[in-house]
Amino acid sequence: MNELDSEIIAGILTKRGLSETTDETLADLLIFNTCSIRDLAERKVMGKLGKLGRQKKRDRIIGVTGCMANAKKEAIFQKLPHVDFILGTNNIHDLNCLLDEVILTGAQSIRTDEEFTQELDYIAAKRQDKSKAYVSIIRGCDKYCTYCVVPYTRGPEVSRTPQSILEECRELVAQGYKEISLLGQNVNSYGKDKPEWKYLFHDLLYEIDKIEGLNRVRFLTSHPVDISRELMGAIRDLPSLCEQVHFPLQAGSNRILKKMHRLYTKEEYFEKVALLKELVPDVALGTDIIVGFPTETDEEFEETYEAMRQVRYATSFLYTYSPRKGTPAMRWVDDIPESIKAERHQRLLDLHREISSELMAEKLGQEVEVLVEKRSKDGNYLRGLTRCWRHVLFEGADSCIGSIQTVKLTGYSHQTWMGQMGKASIETL
Ligand code: 5AD
Ligand code: SF4
Repeated sequence: MNELDSEIIAGILTKRGLSETTDETLADLLIFNTCSIRDLAERKVMGKLGKLGRQKKRDRIIGVTGCMANAKKEAIFQKLPHVDFILGTNNIHDLNCLLDEVILTGAQSIRTDEEFTQELDYIAAKRQDKSKAYVSIIRGCDKYCTYCVVPYTRGPEVSRTPQSILEECRELVAQGYKEISLLGQNVNSYGKDKPEWKYLFHDLLYEIDKIEGLNRVRFLTSHPVDISRELMGAIRDLPSLCEQVHFPLQAGSNRILKKMHRLYTKEEYFEKVALLKELVPDVALGTDIIVGFPTETDEEFEETYEAMRQVRYATSFLYTYSPRKGTPAMRWVDDIPESIKAERHQRLLDLHREISSELMAEKLGQEVEVLVEKRSKDGNYLRGLTRCWRHVLFEGADSCIGSIQTVKLTGYSHQTWMGQMGKASIETL
C-alpha cells in the first residue's frame, strides 16, 4: 500500500509540473513516505531526517507522509523542526493544497485525518513497472490485532466504489498492463462497510475477470477469518485469478493467537487451508509470522514451527515482535529476549528455505506461464514472474518484455527458478 501511495504522490507531483531527480542534493522537495509497522522502519527515517536537518539547504521543502505522520503527528515538528509538512495516509489528496500553503506562508502545515473519505485521483499514479500494477480497493483495517498499528494509522475500513476500481483496471489494461494486484489491509472485507451496495469482494473479482486483455489478478492481504468458500471458488473458477493466496498465520499456538486477537484457532486455520488445497490443488500459499510475541514459550514457538512445516508455504514473511506505541499489546512486557527472538526467527528462515527448495524441486520439468518483466541485472537473462509469484530467469530477446510466455523450469537457485522459453513461444515472436 505504501508503494502504491508513493506512486500516487509521484503522479500528483508530476501533474503539478514537477520532475523526478535521483540526485537527492538537487531536490527542491523531499518526501518521506513512511512505514510504522515495526520500530526499525521508523528509526531509519528519523535518523535520515535528523541528518538532513543538520545540513538543511534553504528553499528545500521536506515532507513526511505515510503511517508515521499519523502515528507521531506534531511530535515530528517538535523533534525535527526543519520538516515543513506532515501529511497522513488519509490525506494524500490534500498534497497540492498543503504544498501551496507551505510555499505561500513558509509555515509548517499538517493534515492527519482519522478516516479515509476522499476518492483519490488513482489514475494519476506514476508507475515504475510497465506490466504489473497495484490497484487499491479498500483502505484501513477494523481487525485490531493487538500488536498492530495499522487500525490507528490508517483508520477504519473504507471501500472504494466498484465503478472507480473497474475504471482504473480497464485504463491499466488499455495501457498494456497484464497483471493487477488488488490491495487492501484486508481485501476480504471489501464492501462490508457499505452494506447498501450489496456488493462484496467476490462480486468484484467476477467483474474484474471479465475485463478483456487482463491476464492476471492477485490480491493482498486476506485475513484468514474472512477467506470464504465463495472466494476459494472464485480462485478455482476465474481464469484471471492467480493460484496464489497470502494467508497470514502469525502464530501457531491458540493461546498466542487469542492474545493477538486473530479471531481464529489453529484448527480453524488448518481447515481453511485444507479446503483451499482441495479446491485449488496447485495453490501457492504465503504467510506472515511474528515470533517472540509477549509470553511466547518455547513450546508455543514449536507449534508455529510445526504449522509452517505442515502448510508448506511457498512464501513467508517472518518478523520478530516489535512493540508499537498505542497498540493493546503495549500493556504486556516485551519479555522475550532479543537473542531468543533472533534464534526463533532464524529457525523459521531455515525451515522456509528447506520447504521452498522442496516445492521448487517438485516443479522441475513443468511448463509455467511467465510474465516477462525485464532483463536480469547481469544482462544475460530475461526475468519473469510466474502465476504463483516466483521469479524465473531464462534466455530470450528483449522483444518479449511485457508479454506472457511459456517457460519450462530447468533448475533453481535460492528463491529463483531457471528456465527455457517454450518453442511455441519463441516461434510466435
Ligand atoms: N511486530 C512485528 N511484526 C508486525 N507485523 C505487524 N505488526 C507487527 C509488530 N508490532 C507484521 C505482521 C503483519 C505484517 C505486515 O507485519 O506479520 O502481517
Ligand atoms: Fe494489522 Fe491485523 Fe489489520 Fe493486518 S488484520 S493490518 S495485522 S490489524
